[in-house]
Amino acid sequence: MKYGREILKNVEGYVPGEQPRMPNIIKLNTNENPYPPSPKVMEALRGLSADTLRKYPDPMSLELRKACASRYGYDSADWVMVGNGMDELLAMAVRTFTDPGDTVLTTYPTYVLYETLAQLHGASAFLVDLDDAFQLTDAFYSTPARLCFLPRPNSPTGVCVPREAVERLCREFDGIVVIDEAYVDFADDDCMGFPKRFENAIVMRTFSKSFGLAGMRVGVAVARPEIIAEFVKTKDSYNLNVASQAAALAAMTDYTYMLNSRAKIRKTRARLMAALTELGFSVPPSQSNFLLAQWNGQPNAKTIFERLRERAIIVRYFPVRRLDNALRITVGTEEETDALLRALGEIVGK
Ligand SMILES: Cc1ncc(COP(=O)(O)O)c(C=O)c1O
Repeated sequence: MKYGREILKNVEGYVPGEQPRMPNIIKLNTNENPYPPSPKVMEALRGLSADTLRKYPDPMSLELRKACASRYGYDSADWVMVGNGMDELLAMAVRTFTDPGDTVLTTYPTYVLYETLAQLHGASAFLVDLDDAFQLTDAFYSTPARLCFLPRPNSPTGVCVPREAVERLCREFDGIVVIDEAYVDFADDDCMGFPKRFENAIVMRTFSKSFGLAGMRVGVAVARPEIIAEFVKTKDSYNLNVASQAAALAAMTDYTYMLNSRAKIRKTRARLMAALTELGFSVPPSQSNFLLAQWNGQPNAKTIFERLRERAIIVRYFPVRRLDNALRITVGTEEETDALLRALGEIVGK
């Protein structure tokens, strides 16, 4: 029970009962894509027959894994695992590669679920502070642990460490390195080729962000077939339902649609970044579909968060060290961005 409550609290942006009470909110707190998924996804879902629903899904999600392998430059589905959201794959990595009592390494700040998952498993998380530019320090590479989570781009900062830093980590770290690429489709480059070069590298992606399918819960892990075989041993038998498999397959097949959505978001991101800077926020360079807007003026960041909320604009506020002077803001549509900037102008008096 204790952990159940903890998990609920830690799910990003989850406020029990909040959403149904606020129908017209501008929701910029959980980094969803503001644009709908490809029309091909809706077609695929409408095309599901009653008979397909009556039967169990393919437990190995083979068609989807093949499509991911081929898109990501791998010659067989043996390099790919899919999960019920990337969150399931992150949990699988902890279960597969650590024993209770082991250490899981990650950064501070970062995605809070890594620490929760380690604790749930009886392992402990060791968080090494990022430097002032939210980059890795030397201490990170030399910390002994069984498993390491490195998001690139990171959340909630939006910042990418250089690819060379990830290479160094894969070479020097004596354990499994999970490179969390949840937001990488919004970035300039990626590490998808690393599992070919490093036997300890696992690259994870999600359909929740760039493909606009957060509601379908589909994540992807790419790693050496020996690692994937270990995941297969610990996964739920039917971890992806038929609708999720069909939706993700259709989205992957219509890759150009995702690239268009990405281009729109990157364009709005540049505009939002410039406008926030103009308002007096300091914003680390984001390679993601959100920005960390740091604020040292008056009213303080928490008050700005509350005043936005009164206007039905929901962003993310973290009342924790190094983040309590900032707001994490998802890049929305152009109209949502206009509304946000208008409201912020009123609140901070510009
Ligand atoms: C850094 C990071 N990794 C993983 C995830 C989980 O993605 P999914 O929706 O596929 O479970 C998120 C979700 O917000 C995230 O921010």
